Amino acid sequence: MTLRKILEYPAPVLRQETRRITAFNEELKKLVEDMAETMYAAPGIGLAAPQIGESLKLIVIDTTSDKEGAREFMAMINPEIIEKEGKQLDEEGCLSVPDLTSKVKRFKKITVAYQDLAGNSHLMAAEDRPAVVLQHEIDHINGILFLDHLSALKRALYKKKVKKWQQEEPA
Ligand code: NI
Repeated sequence: MTLRKILEYPAPVLRQETRRITAFNEELKKLVEDMAETMYAAPGIGLAAPQIGESLKLIVIDTTSDKEGAREFMAMINPEIIEKEGKQLDEEGCLSVPDLTSKVKRFKKITVAYQDLAGNSHLMAAEDRPAVVLQHEIDHINGILFLDHLSALKRALYKKKVKKWQQEEPA
């Protein structure tokens, strides 16, 4: 397992169209292991492949709410929301968008179609917080950041802050 660098906004790969995964091989398994290690080290509750520079339809999540509980790690390949209903408003942040949290409007309940590491197809229903995490990560593989769900004013303020950081620490 390798700890990978998490890329931050405005890295172009975060905005790219991702590729569908068709090869369910050792290389994919290794990538999932790297993503798990990187997510837990951050620490985070979800990570999408573009965040480590891999423009692929792949996310990992662990929405275990009980800190004492067993890990509920899942890797979802080619995930797609096929059903959605209701509304909820919950606080979000993102490992690729440092120093910003904000309430985001999401669907309350969703059903996701995805494949596992062996290429088998599954459906998963989620609601409340796990549904938020899934919508956030699936956005990532479509080039969307939680920033895009905020008001134009909030987004503009954040962009200004990032520009200032970039001037302070030239890459
Ligand atoms: Ni994120």
